[in-house]
Parts: sequence; structure tokens; C-alpha cells
Amino acid sequence: MLEIKNLKAGYNGMEILRGVDFAVETGEIVAIIGPNGAGKSTLLKSVFNLADIYSGEIVFKDKNIIKLPTHQLISLGISYVPQGRQVFGNLTVLENLEMGAFVFKDKELIQRNIDDVFEKFPMLKEKKSEEACNLSGGQQQMLAIGRALIQDPELLLFDEPSLGLDPKTMKEVFAKIQEINKEGIAIVIVEQNAKQAVAIANRTYVLEDGKIALQGGSEILRQEKIKSIYLGGSPNKKNPVSHIAKQDFRLLLAAYCLFVSLI
Ligand SMILES: Nc1ncnc2c1ncn2[C@@H]1O[C@H](COP(=O)(O)OP(=O)(O)OP(=O)(O)O)[C@@H](O)[C@H]1O
Ligand SMILES: [Mg+2]
Repeated sequence: MLEIKNLKAGYNGMEILRGVDFAVETGEIVAIIGPNGAGKSTLLKSVFNLADIYSGEIVFKDKNIIKLPTHQLISLGISYVPQGRQVFGNLTVLENLEMGAFVFKDKELIQRNIDDVFEKFPMLKEKKSEEACNLSGGQQQMLAIGRALIQDPELLLFDEPSLGLDPKTMKEVFAKIQEINKEGIAIVIVEQNAKQAVAIANRTYVLEDGKIALQGGSEILRQEKIKSIYLGGSPNKKNPVSHIAKQDFRLLLAAYCLFVSLI
């Protein structure tokens, strides 16, 4: 379904991914783990055209998708739940969901997809008129997932869905991800919480300093090399804070502009 070959990518000429091979088959859950700054988010952003691609291939359903604009990627069947959720705090739950539907023109289809999301997340229906900033972290994560599901994806990319959540909420989020997968949606999940991610994944890749250091099934966490990868950290880490940059917001800004132009 998704095949990435010898991908070199980064930001403003700086190479972060240094030759990554990565694949997802239909219906799979694939985890990407690795230390801070290894390039996990950059790998997802490369698929979603939010990082600069220097060389290599990204093929989705036999189509080269490098440099395709966001709305085309979504129309092809790829959706993205970004790190930090990035819901619009001063919009209501319903408005946030409608933002996710910006690729569709058919109002009935949008309503059907919203109803499907409400069925999956009754809490979102209950709180549909509340501003997103009043939701808890876990509820905002569910909203971010709902906003992506509205797009009816075949492949869903999750960046750190459990970040900042308490253990109980984290469990709920992982259970929801498994439930979504059972409905036939392939999942890529980037996680700090390696144990949980590996437990639900069919296959796992370990990214270290912009390269795949290990790949395998659930036995991967028992491999000796894992310890040195995590203890060693990643020399690729440059500036952990200042990069909450334009790439993350490009998608949301585009969605917002479209939303405003539609109302
Ligand atoms: N928009 C950006 N502009 C410049 N450098 C960036 C940008 N985003 C990330 N980086 C840099 O790229 C490298 C890899 O970052 P990335 O966010 O992909 O790592 P990660 O594995 O997701 O880390 P974390 O676990 O902290 O989320 C880091 O050195 C980071 O500072
Ligand atoms: Mg990251």
C-alpha cells in the first residue's frame, strides 16, 4: 500500500532522514519507535508533504505521491493525526470536525461521515457545541482522531497519540486505534511509548539518527541493540523546541482557509 525507498528528507537543506526504507501493507498496524530527534515525525511529515524531500521514492497505491498537495493526499486516502493533536481551541467540536471534511463538497456525505464519527465517539456528540479548548487532553486526542476519520482514510498516520495522557486514557486511545484498524484502515503509529505501540503493531521499525536501525515483530524490544539505541539518544537532535514550525501548521492553515471560504 505504502512503499518508501531510500528516502532522504529534512528541512531547509538539512538532511534528517538519511536513506529510509519503509513499507505498510493493506490492513497492517506499523509502529515507528526511536529516541527523541531520530526523525520519526519527519518520516510521517515526508509522506504528508510537510517536510522537504531530497531523494528517494514514496509510492502509495502504485502512485508517486511526492510533493502532492494535502487535499490530493487526503483524497487518495491518507490522513494524518499530528503530534500535539493541534485541534482549534476556539472552534467547537463540530467545527473542528467540519474542518477535517474540507476535501469534500457533498454536504450529505460530510453529514454521514460526521454521524459515523459521533457513533464511534459518543463523547464528541455530547460535546459538539463546546469549544475544543475546554476538552481534556484525551478528549482532544479523540477529536483529532475523529477529524482525520471524517476524511474516510485507507491509511492513517498517528504521531505520538498517547503523548501527555494518563495511563487509563492512553489505554482507551490505543484501544480506539485497534478498533479503527479492525474496520480495515491501515495504521502507522509513531510512539515514545514503545511498549504499547509494539504490542498493537504487526511490525515495528526502530529509527535512529535518520536511519532504520532495526525492524521486526513484537520480539524487537527484547533485542540487545534496543538498549544502546535508546541510551545513546540521537545525535541528530538539534533544536527540540524551535521546530514547532510552519510545516506543522501548513496543513491546518490550508484547512482553515478552505473552511472560511466555504462558509
Ligand atoms: N520544521 C523543522 N525545521 C528544522 N528542523 C526540524 C524541523 N522539525 C524537526 N526538525 C529537526 O529534525 C530532527 C528530527 O526531528 P523529528 O521531530 O522528526 O524527531 P522525532 O523522532 O519525531 O523526535 P520526538 O520524539 O522528539 O518527537 C531534530 O533534530 C529536529 O530538531
Ligand atoms: Mg516526533
